[in-house]
Amino acid sequence: MALQAASLVPSAFTIQKEGKSAASVNSGLFGVSLADQAKTDYSSFALKSKREFGARKSSVAVRAQAVVTTPAINSDTVQGKKTLRKGNVVITGASSGLGLATAKALAETGKWHVIMACRDFLKAEKAAKSAGMAKESYTIMHLDLASLDSVRQFVDNFKRSGRPLDVLVCNAAVYQPTAKQPSFTADGFELSVGTNHLGHFLLSRLLLDDMKQSDYPSKRLIIVGSITGNTNTLAGNVPPKANLGDLRGLAGGLNELNSSAMIDGGDFDGAKAYKDSKVCNMLTMQEFHRLYHEDTGITFASLYPGCIATTGLFREHIPLFRLLFPPFQKFITKGFVSEEEAGKRLAQVVSDPSLTKSGVYWSWNQASASFENQLSPEASDAAKARKIWKLSDKLVGLA
Ligand SMILES: NC(=O)c1ccc[n+]([C@@H]2O[C@H](COP(=O)([O-])OP(=O)(O)OC[C@H]3O[C@@H](n4cnc5c(N)ncnc54)[C@H](OP(=O)(O)O)[C@@H]3O)[C@@H](O)[C@H]2O)c1
Repeated sequence: MALQAASLVPSAFTIQKEGKSAASVNSGLFGVSLADQAKTDYSSFALKSKREFGARKSSVAVRAQAVVTTPAINSDTVQGKKTLRKGNVVITGASSGLGLATAKALAETGKWHVIMACRDFLKAEKAAKSAGMAKESYTIMHLDLASLDSVRQFVDNFKRSGRPLDVLVCNAAVYQPTAKQPSFTADGFELSVGTNHLGHFLLSRLLLDDMKQSDYPSKRLIIVGSITGNTNTLAGNVPPKANLGDLRGLAGGLNELNSSAMIDGGDFDGAKAYKDSKVCNMLTMQEFHRLYHEDTGITFASLYPGCIATTGLFREHIPLFRLLFPPFQKFITKGFVSEEEAGKRLAQVVSDPSLTKSGVYWSWNQASASFENQLSPEASDAAKARKIWKLSDKLVGLA
């Protein structure tokens, strides 16, 4: 139990390098300082919007259930064509935990329209309401990352909405630490890697063109990583450690028919499958950066938001773990971060003008200042990133 607890992100135990603070955060983030920074950003932000929201096609959906909200354009200039508009950010898994806290933090600035991409529409609606998010600040659209069809349908519905895409945050995840047997996505992939990596991989690939077309000043694709996938930390060294091996399980489809359900071809382990999926997330971000940053100007980033020990991520853990994990993180490792604080951190990666560097894995120090962190050798292995990209392309039907 203590071992399991330690395996989940006690950042106070980390031996990662704490670099220079890239920006001051915390109270300044959504208080005066960010607002001031953002003002500068937005005052010079008179955009020619080629897409007219009024003329957009209705967002018909078989599975998508979009809440109708007011268009995100909020003023026209004298020339009539130039438009000052809100940024549009898609956040997967915004119905709870980090995703919800980030959605709320961004919505509260009044400068973002949040598309909450969630598998449970009613849960997301209730969550947004109980978080106090203004109705016009968000749209809920159905997305089940454990189904490639659903991912394609979400993309289709989003495109048909006519809304520009400025930032995509791949945040949703499942974690099955106590599972004895693997479970599988609709397409037959082991659930953690299938959802956390392959679902997000297809989503990001299909939405890249939309981001390219956006006229927003700073376009970003953010994939949430984790310290648990980084074996250059003490937390990342607690068994079972992330290890993708030679990718033979991924090459075989993770379906237990042609291969193992695990990426490295080994025996199923739910905690390891989650950590492996996070390594894939961090490698995918770097491969996106290598392939597309220079040509598109899009910022690709990953992050470790801190140990948010209270979220639903731990829902499948035994009750005693769920009881003891938050105080363990608060008082023993001191790695605990509240959902609100973690949400501000991710919101910073979405919108802070000082965090535009691409190919970066952000972390925060004890003073809650962001810094560019180092990834483990495996999580920064460029050759492996290319192989995973190619194999994932095949598995999601893009190659
Ligand atoms: N908690 C931590 O300490 C911690 C630390 C490092 C990194 N992270 C990362 O932070 C991110 C958010 O996790 P969290 O802690 O906020 O956990 P959480 O509260 O359980 O949030 C996970 C979200 O993912 C959604 N989700 C799960 N399966 C999905 C699917 N098939 N399709 C669409 N959405 C799906 C969940 O939807 P439902 O509401 O419908 O279940 C939920 O909204 C994850 O990427 C996690 O790896 C967390």
